[in-house]
Amino acid sequence: MKQRRSELHVIPATGMSTQQISSAFDDVSENDVRWRDGKAFSLAYNAGPDVLQVAQDAYDRFGGTNALNTAAFPSLRQMQSEVLDMVGVWLGSPTTAAGYFTSGGTESILMAVKAARDQFLTEDAVTHPNIVLPTSAHAAFDKAAAYFGVELRRVAVQSDWRADAEAMAQHIDSNTVLIVGSSPQYPQGVIDDIPALANIALHHGVNFHVDACMGGVSLAYLSRLNQQVPPWNMAVHGVTSISVDLHKFGYTSKGASVIMYANKRLRSFQGFFTDQWLGGVYASSGMLGTKSGGPIAAAWAVMHYLGDDGYLRLTRSARSATVKLSQHITYHPHLSLLAQPDALLLSFIANDPQRLNIYAVADEMWKRGWYIDRQEPPQSLHCTINAVHESVIDAMIVDLDECIAIVLDTGKTGDVGAYGTLS
Ligand SMILES: Cc1ncc(COP(=O)(O)O)c(C=O)c1O
Repeated sequence: MKQRRSELHVIPATGMSTQQISSAFDDVSENDVRWRDGKAFSLAYNAGPDVLQVAQDAYDRFGGTNALNTAAFPSLRQMQSEVLDMVGVWLGSPTTAAGYFTSGGTESILMAVKAARDQFLTEDAVTHPNIVLPTSAHAAFDKAAAYFGVELRRVAVQSDWRADAEAMAQHIDSNTVLIVGSSPQYPQGVIDDIPALANIALHHGVNFHVDACMGGVSLAYLSRLNQQVPPWNMAVHGVTSISVDLHKFGYTSKGASVIMYANKRLRSFQGFFTDQWLGGVYASSGMLGTKSGGPIAAAWAVMHYLGDDGYLRLTRSARSATVKLSQHITYHPHLSLLAQPDALLLSFIANDPQRLNIYAVADEMWKRGWYIDRQEPPQSLHCTINAVHESVIDAMIVDLDECIAIVLDTGKTGDVGAYGTLS
């Protein structure tokens, strides 16, 4: 299993024991980033072994259930609705708001675009829908545009990496169905000017989605930790939908996000329904058909296990690690932050990219087990910092400096890689 497979793998003639399976898992995951130990600064989140256990137990118990039809599983309907209620408070949702539990940030974004498109195709004179968004908004919007036949109008961000609201306004026309802002955007970790974008949306009569996949939980708690958090959520008049990922800073199992709409009417454009099938009437809320109850139960369990004070504590830990790393970079002779982090994401560049190849630094860090995200433009590294990092951030900083010294000495180079893969 450790080598690249050259032969077709076949099902064993007789079943393996659970012990054999467990040791095969040890083998196959040998080179995976050790995210439980805080080595991943991208892709994985950890609030400690007890929280992982709570999520895992809930997942085990409900993993075989199916939220495609909650008539058969009223437990899932109840848990989804309770999760939405709790999340609604974080998001500043009005009493009219209505949402759905989805499989992740991408599905939430896909659904926000589809709902806006279908609402305007139905209720307005729109014929060729487009959405207007900053270059910083997540790639899932490109995916949505490709899947749903919507034109994407990307507008350059300002020099502080925030959306340029005025420039975006210039790109809105009678076919615009949606504009987008992020709380915070991923690449540089800054919060867009949500009130300015909301005003533009109201003025032009278009929908406005706030991507709070990264910030929906953390900003709700950072604002209670004496941090200045600008208006970022549905409390801002003019925001028509917002997404938040529970499998990120909600610290629950993967496959958990929420898309919240300002009202039920808009939400109704998300769902799918047909009665043209020999199997009878078919309806589903999102992209999936069969939808495991595992992530729903895990989200419900983790949110109840942690409670408000648990999330406050975890956000404090993650923020303390973020501040430590950002201060180290701010005063570093060879590095610069692209922006002071508004939440728990930061990115940095080499001051002299000719002398210090930043991707080679990431390569050296990976040799020591640290997984750091790479991006461009500009050539930079990106860290998503969560609660598990508080106990390892000092060690990470020591390794970062040693890796920088190695790259300066050797002149090594590296490349940008990719955020996701097609394999
Ligand atoms: C701001 C933002 N939006 C959306 C997403 C997409 O989320 P997912 O990978 O869960 O589909 C991400 C992922 O990192 C993100 O950072």
